[in-house]
Amino acid sequence: MSDGGRPGRVAILISGRGSNMEALLRGMRSGAIAAEPAVVLSNKRSAKGLETAAAAGIPTEVVRRRKGMTHEDHDRLVIEALDRYDIDLVCLAGYMRLLSPLMVARFPDRILNIHPSLLPAFPGLDAQQQALDYGARFSGCTVHFVDEECDHGPIVTQAAVSIEPGDDASSLSARILEQEHRIYPEAVALFFQGRLSVEGRQVRIAPATGTPAAG
Ligand code: GAR
Repeated sequence: MSDGGRPGRVAILISGRGSNMEALLRGMRSGAIAAEPAVVLSNKRSAKGLETAAAAGIPTEVVRRRKGMTHEDHDRLVIEALDRYDIDLVCLAGYMRLLSPLMVARFPDRILNIHPSLLPAFPGLDAQQQALDYGARFSGCTVHFVDEECDHGPIVTQAAVSIEPGDDASSLSARILEQEHRIYPEAVALFFQGRLSVEGRQVRIAPATGTPAAG
């Protein structure tokens, strides 16, 4: 629930396929996440996930970055669009744009991102290929709050995935994606249970109410 007693409202931002978006939608549909999808927004008209969202009856928006627009100009349009939907949480789900300080300030501690590596290792593009090129034995995925720096904000949760001999970017991405689809809905569920608080770089996860004390 949001503060107003109504179900929480989520904006999902995508640039492509939208499989993490689908995982979040499943979580909301099943009731595992106590919130509803308010809008799916993309910076790319061709994003496959827009069709999926529209087919599920979810409002969609496209806000393209036109030539000459600064990052901030673009984010101002994104904020204008999101402000029509009374949003409690913004979930970046394969949204391949760095957010401007304007956007981060509009939704303080209310933007989550999923990234396909164990941050702070391998931020930025092609994280899975970066892990392979580096010779890492493990990689994984991270859900974190978004700040002004790329793939940098306070970490909510992570899952590790081993890198096997013979892995390529595609096989590793597929194994990491399975974990992404598990931990992203879990993190969003915690957010709407009001169990996440941010103190500097630390994200505290409060115990579930009604959980018997250990021991
Ligand atoms: C996912 O692997 C996500 O972690 C990654 O893009 C993919 C999107 O897939 N995001 C980033 O690399 C952001 N830095 P999806 O569209 O099927 O969810």
